[in-house]
Amino acid sequence: MANDETVKAAGINTRLAHSGNDPHAYFGFVNPPVVHASTVLFADARSMADRNQKYTYGTRGTPTSDALAAAINELEGSAGTAIVPSGLAAVVLPLIAYLSAGDHALIVDSVYHPTRKFANTVLKRMGVEVEFYDPLIGAGISGLMKPNTKLVFTESPGSNTYEVQDIPAIAKAAHAGGAVVVMDNTWATPLYFKALEHGVDVTVHAATKYPAGHSDVLLGTVSANAACWPQLWATFDTLGICAGPDDAYQVLRGLRTMGVRLERHQQSALEIARWLETKAGVARVLHPALESHPGHALWKRDFSGSSGIFSVVLDGAGERQSHAFLDALKIFGLGYSWGGYESLAVPVNVRDRVVAKGPYGGAIIRLQIGLEDVPDLKADIERGLAAAAAAS
Ligand SMILES: Cc1ncc(COP(=O)(O)O)c(C=O)c1O
Repeated sequence: MANDETVKAAGINTRLAHSGNDPHAYFGFVNPPVVHASTVLFADARSMADRNQKYTYGTRGTPTSDALAAAINELEGSAGTAIVPSGLAAVVLPLIAYLSAGDHALIVDSVYHPTRKFANTVLKRMGVEVEFYDPLIGAGISGLMKPNTKLVFTESPGSNTYEVQDIPAIAKAAHAGGAVVVMDNTWATPLYFKALEHGVDVTVHAATKYPAGHSDVLLGTVSANAACWPQLWATFDTLGICAGPDDAYQVLRGLRTMGVRLERHQQSALEIARWLETKAGVARVLHPALESHPGHALWKRDFSGSSGIFSVVLDGAGERQSHAFLDALKIFGLGYSWGGYESLAVPVNVRDRVVAKGPYGGAIIRLQIGLEDVPDLKADIERGLAAAAAAS
């Protein structure tokens, strides 16, 4: 089924339902087997010496991880996909694959915090020169390119504050300088942003979020175009970081319903974001699909949808009001991550940034809108706003 041209040309939910497995290769069972593997046997000494069989050892992939990789390749239009044990591992893999001592890396300042931490610690210790750039820089990034700039890391919209990057302009400038363009595309998923079609070479997903969808699995995917895949595969193979088969299976399972879940996340989040813009005590709502968002025009040009996570700025609020808001919530849980079926809220801290620092006009709270009923979520947010006002 994975190679079926009919499926490849079909609508997104049809592709999500049928990509990445071939039932008739497994006695007709609809889902692929979960292959638990370290050792793979060879038929004879010659094939062992030549390693000329499809599977040779568990760290290099199994039919289960391959089924997921095939599904992601179809969604991304990529030449190959590595399946790794977390979204953070997926961020780190291309940084290790394409950077060496003496290289310069440009990393967007609105990046997921642990990506910044990896760059500021391990990359610097490896002798890589790390520079954070303004998410709104666009084609101006050419002014930051150096002869040794080997990688430009993008994430759009940015973590927590949702700045939209001009990815085609950045990719053009990066390629002119000979750099690889990597994108953390977790927010939009391959459904709502086609990273490789916009000039990105390597796209990263924390599949922990929407692909898994149930807050119970950690997994990451790294997909590359044909030029960048051999180096990515070689590094993945050398590191031995293939995700376990049960987790790969769960993400493949999650992909089947991701399209319909995303539609609901999108619809509910937008309704709540628009409603929040009208509420007293709210200074701004940071959601790129809102007309009021500074990145809205770029988002509209490049993205085909929005997901379920955005931030709200409580007018003039500090930590006391922010904590009062969070403590009053009864449906939203206070916890990290997103993309699951349940709503979550976290306070946002932009203190570690060097360029995109704001000011934002008050405490920022990130809301992950789950699959619950919108009136219940609004009532919960009302409780939070009332508590924040009372704490002022
Ligand atoms: C944008 C982004 N990238 C990567 C990750 C890392 O994913 P994981 O939690 O699977 O390590 C996260 C997690 O919150 C994220 O928000």
